[in-house]
Amino acid sequence: KRVVLAYSGGLDTSVILKWLQEHYGCEVVTFTADLGQGEELEPARKKAEMMGIKPEHIFMDDLREEFVRDFVFPMMRANALYEGQYLLGTSIARPLIAKRQIEIARQVGADAVAHGATGKGNDQIRFELGYYALAPDIKVIAPWREWDLNSRSKLIAYAESRQIAVPKDKRGESPFSVDSNLLHTSSEGKILEDPWQEVPDYVYSRTVNPEEAPNTPEIITIDFERGDAIAINGEALSPAELLTKLNELGRKHGIGRLDLVENRYIGMKSRGMYETPGGTILIQAHRGIEQLTLDGGAMHLKDELMPRYAELIYNGFWYSPEREMLQAAIDHSQARVSGTVRLKLYKGSVNVIGRKSPNSLYSEKVVTFEDDAGAYNQQDAAGFIKLNALRLRLLGERNAKGL
Ligand code: ARG
Ligand code: SIN
Repeated sequence: KRVVLAYSGGLDTSVILKWLQEHYGCEVVTFTADLGQGEELEPARKKAEMMGIKPEHIFMDDLREEFVRDFVFPMMRANALYEGQYLLGTSIARPLIAKRQIEIARQVGADAVAHGATGKGNDQIRFELGYYALAPDIKVIAPWREWDLNSRSKLIAYAESRQIAVPKDKRGESPFSVDSNLLHTSSEGKILEDPWQEVPDYVYSRTVNPEEAPNTPEIITIDFERGDAIAINGEALSPAELLTKLNELGRKHGIGRLDLVENRYIGMKSRGMYETPGGTILIQAHRGIEQLTLDGGAMHLKDELMPRYAELIYNGFWYSPEREMLQAAIDHSQARVSGTVRLKLYKGSVNVIGRKSPNSLYSEKVVTFEDDAGAYNQQDAAGFIKLNALRLRLLGERNAKGL
């Protein structure tokens, strides 16, 4: 009996590690991923070793490039936002963690996987839909749904009785449920549970307060190729490098803060705070290059599909045929989405102020208010409007008769 645990090295998953050993008496294999959460992985290794995990059963992977290239960028091509605002920073990371966990389970011959998500949230669904899609017969252990440590204080008492270090900030006011990666940091719980209370300053960790951001705007350019960002200010960067750089710019200018009450898939509403500095710049920039290069009909269809696509990711259906079908359509639309966008970053805002592309569909000759030298015949519009108006006129006639 072996179980692969998604292990962050934090308090909760350390307690879970111990509990799996005690409760199931099974051999635990830990997996810790670097998704750009900005924490060292080595302390997690030390902790795992201290709890008796064999060195060859401690897995650590730098998944940053794969995360941005194969998960974040495909999602950005869709301009995906959940409920109009949330950039899905946690949602999009779960399928990758699940995939790697299953690979490790195969490698070490484990028959089970475990995660630290509670029974109240979205993350349990995302992890487990991923597991089952990739390994239909895997056994799933979700300690939060099984044990009797149903409060923070019980969890802390358990940790103390097992010599598991409890960080100071886990005792006081700040034990939010925090999830971080290269795309975003989310915070939920504690003081945020009252949706009328403003998010206190100390909850923000990766953006400056827009009110304290520089008083001079910063202008940047982003180059796109087939819908993906490839360079900032002319400098070519890998996907993870590029997002890292945008995060720095976003941090400095206070970009990408969001206070949101959202609908969890499980049925309840929750209130969270998100910081998505680089992602917020990226989605604006991507829209900017699409403005020039995407056909209007294609764009509008894409915009209709987007909420559906975002909901699939939010609900945990990354590995589903319908997500893949939508992805194929979205990717197809990006064939000519190449060029350069110029943006202005200023006190929490990011605005497109210029765009250019060799594939542009924008015709100054046609659109100009000046003499267009016969590029467009204004008389054509009269018939276009007349026929569009036909049924409205017939309806108007009937209305006039009071019928
Ligand atoms: N509400 C967000 C989502 O469902 C963030 C969840 C954060 N998860 C966490 N384990 N802290 O995507
Ligand atoms: C959790 O319940 O573990 C975090 C919140 C969520 O998954 O929605």
